[in-house]
Amino acid sequence: MHDVDVIVIGAGAAGMMCAAQAGKRGREVVLIDHAKKIGEKIRISGGGRCNFTNLYAGPDAYLSQNPHFCKSALKQYTQYDFIELVKSYGIAFHEKKLGQLFCDESAQQIIDMLLDECRDAGVRLATETEVQEISKDGDKYKLISSQGEYRVQSIVIASGGLSIPKIGATKFAYQIAEQFGLNIIAPYAALVPLTFQNELLDFCKELSGVSVDANISCGQVSFREGLLFTHRGLSGPSILQISSYWSSGAEIMVNLLPDQDMAAYLKGQKHQQPKIDVQKLLSEMLPSRLVQKICDEVQIKGRLAELSDKDLMLLARRLNQWTIIPSGTEGYRTAEVTRGGVDTDALSSKTMEVKQHPGLFFIGEAVDVTGHLGGYNFQWAWSSGYVAGQYA
Ligand code: FDA
Repeated sequence: MHDVDVIVIGAGAAGMMCAAQAGKRGREVVLIDHAKKIGEKIRISGGGRCNFTNLYAGPDAYLSQNPHFCKSALKQYTQYDFIELVKSYGIAFHEKKLGQLFCDESAQQIIDMLLDECRDAGVRLATETEVQEISKDGDKYKLISSQGEYRVQSIVIASGGLSIPKIGATKFAYQIAEQFGLNIIAPYAALVPLTFQNELLDFCKELSGVSVDANISCGQVSFREGLLFTHRGLSGPSILQISSYWSSGAEIMVNLLPDQDMAAYLKGQKHQQPKIDVQKLLSEMLPSRLVQKICDEVQIKGRLAELSDKDLMLLARRLNQWTIIPSGTEGYRTAEVTRGGVDTDALSSKTMEVKQHPGLFFIGEAVDVTGHLGGYNFQWAWSSGYVAGQYA
């Protein structure tokens, strides 16, 4: 039996940040991961360039049953703190759009930086290590792993959510939470493409590869960004964003021309350019393949002068208010994150420690805090990892 101060389970974004911070405080830290290669999600993130934070990271960009929970950690360790760390390692980065910061070169630089931080802080890394059991041992914990047994003061669960099982995602965090009597907010795949059936699927399939700038709404929430037709349905940033707010059976509304009131525009054009072909007119604003499919579907073609106002209104609605019901999502296979997770009610927002079980912490994606697309999820991993590292 080895005695250590802190064991962090999960050497992903949150776990590495936490382990390094605890190590810097002089704590003896072991960082365990069942995978051979650690930080895999960082490596594949942002198309290999890791969108590591967002200049506008703040509580409004996060979903949780308790929208206030994330405030403390985000304040204790901000996007600017992480940017300073990245700069101190001489890693070049740029803002792509909407405050999203990416490495100029490679996501591997972020992994190497975190590994260096852990090494400098004396963290012992145990990869390919399975945790078999965690139990209370007086005021400490006992942890049995495939590499030996530990008596430990603080255990930090940083094993993430369920997305991308192929690279090592497991239910581990939820199982440990349940073992210690914590509630789990039902997990769902989020930041994930939406799928369709029947005619809608055919429609999307035939347009596979076409992308447009669109506004997508679900209930009161809306996002304006790219939308991509795929052979399974719809994807692109605006769809990924709305997927986090979508639940089975709900409809979404797609505005394919968000800058234009198409009812007014088409009526006006009917007077100004009565002889213009409706498809030609629309092809100046949208990809012609999409225009053709829409016009075929609503069975509207010919010159504007030949079209009734009723037809033009039908077309305008189809362009500005395309209301559809997805049949589902692509699920955890492609989801960037998991919505839901360990109920924040059980945790201290200041430290991420379980209120009823001193010495047990949950951080990162395992917790019911889910960011929008755009670097917000990593910022949550850094912030929650940092604060737990100050107290574990
Ligand atoms: P993370 O999943 O990073 O780490 C969990 C670790 O625990 C893994 O190393 C895993 O092997 C280990 N583990 C799991 N079960 C275990 C067990 N039973 N025993 C031991 N170890 C176990 N976010 C963002 O802000 N910007 C971006 O650009 C992207 N891009 C992106 C692309 C893709 C394809 C995906 C899938 C996700 C993103 N994300 C993202 C989301 C981001 O990757 C995610 O939110 C964070 O990695 C979460 O960090 P965690 O440390 O909580 O979990």
